[in-house]
Amino acid sequence: KLESIVSDIESQFSIDDAYIVKATKFFLSSMEAGLAAPSSSREYMPMIPAYVTSIPTGKEKGLFLAADLGGTNFRVCSIDLKGDHTFELKQSKYRIPVEIMNAEESEELFSYLAKKVESFLEEHHADYHTKSKDHLKLGFTFSFPVNQTALDQGTLIRWTKGFNIPDTVDRDVVELLQANLVILGINVKVVALANDTVGTLLSRAYVNDPAKTKSNTIIGAIFGTGTNGAYYETIENIPKLTADKVPEGAKGMVINTEWGSFDNTLSILPNTKWDVTVDKETANPGYHLFEKRISGMFLGEILRVVLIDLFEQGHIFVDLAAERGGSLPHRVKEPWQLDAEILSYIEIDDSTDLQMSGLIMQNVLRLPTTKEERVLIQRITRAISHRAAYLSAIPLAAIASKVKDQYKDDDRDFEFGCDGSVVEFYPCFRDTILKAVAAIDPLKGTGKKIHLRIAKDGSGVGAALAASTVA
Ligand code: BG6
Ligand code: GLC
Repeated sequence: KLESIVSDIESQFSIDDAYIVKATKFFLSSMEAGLAAPSSSREYMPMIPAYVTSIPTGKEKGLFLAADLGGTNFRVCSIDLKGDHTFELKQSKYRIPVEIMNAEESEELFSYLAKKVESFLEEHHADYHTKSKDHLKLGFTFSFPVNQTALDQGTLIRWTKGFNIPDTVDRDVVELLQANLVILGINVKVVALANDTVGTLLSRAYVNDPAKTKSNTIIGAIFGTGTNGAYYETIENIPKLTADKVPEGAKGMVINTEWGSFDNTLSILPNTKWDVTVDKETANPGYHLFEKRISGMFLGEILRVVLIDLFEQGHIFVDLAAERGGSLPHRVKEPWQLDAEILSYIEIDDSTDLQMSGLIMQNVLRLPTTKEERVLIQRITRAISHRAAYLSAIPLAAIASKVKDQYKDDDRDFEFGCDGSVVEFYPCFRDTILKAVAAIDPLKGTGKKIHLRIAKDGSGVGAALAASTVA
């Protein structure tokens, strides 16, 4: 009986090549619709113009600061761009406290960020802090959807990835950070605001030497706590960027797609009852539904709600619950406690009777399991992660196909610069994405290949590159 239940769940998570080919076409039309629509409506992909009008060449130079508010961590870095595709980086990393992610007021978050910039300067650039008369330029990587109106201006559209500070919505995040730096008397000017995907695109393009790798960087993507991507679009293809908003001489602009919000109306995305449950638990129900099927914040939660469902139907953990007076350990009952990292160990466990997984679940979740339960958990884990990786190929392939013409006179390959814990560490995630991209075959007939390269910690460097464009 359990066997038929597991295969039914697997089939609900299964998607095939025909589906991703169809979904890629739909993604392309969603991009076009988003390039014409307001960035903040729920129905359209935001497709936010990022006010970065050129891609680095590798020759950029100078010392810049970067403040990087990503998924899980806040990093402060100083980046010395050497002008030869290389850089020197110093950085401090802080795990963002949950109370700050859910603060009552924006000031709590932004004063926390400013204080970390101050500590970083004291630790790594104390001489500059006291001696220099000129301000240091800072690029602010802010990995959430913002309505950007200039390189150094943007108001928060909405929080994602578990942040929830309602008072920040519609406020300019550069102003908020700058004001808190001023309060501390720090001689730093926030000159550029960049999404992490924009930063990743810029940094990978800086590091990549096309003459050596024979490839052009066309996408900056994140598959981590959240997922998103950025690419360079020509101005005539961005109808919502009216002439008055186009910087002088610009031929194109980097677009932060916010693909996490692809198909918020669920026209084409798979939607199991467990996806519905997870969405309801989030702070942004109805938004970022693509992200909620793919990224690290959600993979473990999907598995957890499937297990709770099977338990409630009396299929698993029966003896355990009986011993405990009918209830499961609290770490299993509580949302968001099952980290994608744990799934990554279960995914590749090949120990006898999956004892390794058993140990992990016992230690981390206080959850004793039988062999049959572990086999079930591993099969469902693989079904969830396979769907995630397969879905991840859709935006990558769609963008490759959309920019094909931009490179028609250049015979170099395409490279995707990627960062984030899932693409970096989840077993086989990268290979499965590439397999799915090959099935879609967006560069058919061009003779070009696609490479997926890791742009580790790229967004800080990218923010510095964005800052380097400011006179
Ligand atoms: C980091 C970048 O390397 O990766 C951040 O510096 C980015 O800007 C982050 O947001 C994404 O990964 P994760 O797994 O922390 O969400
Ligand atoms: C979420 C954010 C987006 C960010 C992504 C990856 O989707 O909305 O701005 O780029 O996570 O961190």
